[in-house]
Amino acid sequence: MSFGMSYEAMKEELAKRLKRSRFIHSVGVSETAAFLAGRFGVEEQKARVAGLLHDCAREFRNEDMIAEAQKRKIAIGAVEQAMPLLLHAYIGAKRIREIYQVEDKDVEQAIWRHTVGGPQMTALDKIIWFADMIEPGRDYPGVENLRQLAKEASLDDMMLAGFSQSIQFVVAKGHLIHPDTVLARNELLLKKIR
Ligand SMILES: [Fe+2]
Ligand SMILES: [Fe+2]
Repeated sequence: MSFGMSYEAMKEELAKRLKRSRFIHSVGVSETAAFLAGRFGVEEQKARVAGLLHDCAREFRNEDMIAEAQKRKIAIGAVEQAMPLLLHAYIGAKRIREIYQVEDKDVEQAIWRHTVGGPQMTALDKIIWFADMIEPGRDYPGVENLRQLAKEASLDDMMLAGFSQSIQFVVAKGHLIHPDTVLARNELLLKKIR
């Protein structure tokens, strides 16, 4: 792993590129991820950096996501085509090297998967995904329950509750469910049943 910039320097750069509310959200995810890293034995610095930079590609406008993804040879599936905003996760995973001098496969993967999840998520992937759901700025029905689980549940029980809640939200809004999200939740559930 190599972090060419200090955490503070990354923060300064990010603050210049994101609107204020998203920057504050990013710092919230970073701090929440650091807490979860401590609880679940994940390297704290990776969690902090991945949390801080997870939304770094939100500096691009929604209508530019497809072009930015193509520029980086990122495959665009049917669901991403219909909801280009999802691409910010994959573009962000590339962007950390381009702008923030982060060369770290674990951090890259955690950012790649922070929105829809994925198969065989690592503890770092899970922590970033979950921190994004519960950082202090989040406010939706059910968030308090998830915050409680972050303090006392096992990593997989916490994630299962998070995915179940997130899938219900997305369905209630009438949106598409990304196949990777179904995969991630099924995997957690199958582990429990077995
Ligand atoms: Fe995001
Ligand atoms: Fe986010």
